[in-house]
Amino acid sequence: MRAYYLTGTGIDGLELRDVADPAPLPGEVAVRVDATSLNYRDLMMAQRLPNERIPLSDGAGEVVAIGDGVTDVQVGDQVAGTFFSHWVDGRITPEAHNAALGGSADGMLSEIVVLPAHGVVPVPAGWSSQQAATLPCAALTAWNALVEGAPVMAGQTVLLLGTGGVSVFGLQFAKMMGARTIITSSSDDKLQQMKSLGADVTINYGSELDWDKAVLDATDGVGVDTVLEVGGAGTLGKSMACTRFEGQIALIGILTGTAGAANPGMLVGRSLSIRGVYVGSRRMFTEMNAAIDRNGLTPVIDQVFAYEQAPDAYRHLDSQTHVGKVVIAHS
Ligand SMILES: NC(=O)c1ccc[n+]([C@@H]2O[C@H](COP(=O)([O-])OP(=O)(O)OC[C@H]3O[C@@H](n4cnc5c(N)ncnc54)[C@H](OP(=O)(O)O)[C@@H]3O)[C@@H](O)[C@H]2O)c1
Repeated sequence: MRAYYLTGTGIDGLELRDVADPAPLPGEVAVRVDATSLNYRDLMMAQRLPNERIPLSDGAGEVVAIGDGVTDVQVGDQVAGTFFSHWVDGRITPEAHNAALGGSADGMLSEIVVLPAHGVVPVPAGWSSQQAATLPCAALTAWNALVEGAPVMAGQTVLLLGTGGVSVFGLQFAKMMGARTIITSSSDDKLQQMKSLGADVTINYGSELDWDKAVLDATDGVGVDTVLEVGGAGTLGKSMACTRFEGQIALIGILTGTAGAANPGMLVGRSLSIRGVYVGSRRMFTEMNAAIDRNGLTPVIDQVFAYEQAPDAYRHLDSQTHVGKVVIAHS
């Protein structure tokens, strides 16, 4: 089989190599990966990961072999891998935290992967592998942010920043839950696309530099109930300024970096809660898929690249011209 390896030198360091097919040990399953998707994290990992590491957390395909003792997964099942192979439920353990696909453990940019049987979930009914490959990181992170803290209720208002993978799933889930949605983008064209997905209010953060004030205006000066904060240090202060008293900020991303001057006084003054969100557990993934099944949600896929064009898929994500998810078809 063929697998991509990172050499720690960026996207140009991706190498496609012929290697032996892996076989499942007891408790493991082998999955033929039919599709993967990219996340912003994968751009960071391309700079950091050492040689001999297979990248990407997100992939889906068919179970082609099972190890001894596996009873709840069958050959032929359509599955997606879970971001943390050993975070099944409850609080994440340090051991599970240290086994993240495409980070501390080998990932999915491979023709066949071996995973623990508890590290895969059935894909939503009728979903293709390309669609299912969008779920493990971006979708589950958005779901966790909206459901696992103070759950978003119908009629509340949710703020999404930008039109990347997490934010677009966040918009779709928030609409599904009956919430009002406000989304920002640097592009009017992308904002138009968000309107057709059901966004109630759109704000161009490139031309509207005080976008927090625009959010306050759109909420009669009250602020939003929940923010999916993917911007990090450069946006957190403004997110705090436009969240209602006792509202919640799901701290997810660092698109603008980690060094900045967010005012903790505002956190206290507005009685805000900030909750760090790191993807989610297998239990959350299963519940998310049930909600997807029942509500007929489909992912927003920007572009699909061939397996041999995986480096181009990375470059496309890096260009930030995409909306939603960038997918790689393995076959
Ligand atoms: N904690 C977790 O578990 C977790 C999980 C997934 C992702 N993340 C993090 O969340 C962030 C987003 O990840 P992703 O995979 O969704 O990224 P992505 O798909 O690459 O999204 C990139 C988009 O973000 C928007 N953006 C960039 N700078 C912005 C800014 N200053 N303000 C508002 N929007 C901005 C742009 O949208 P426009 O072109 O529309 O402006 C850009 O196209 C990353 O920092 C990632 O590491 C964390």
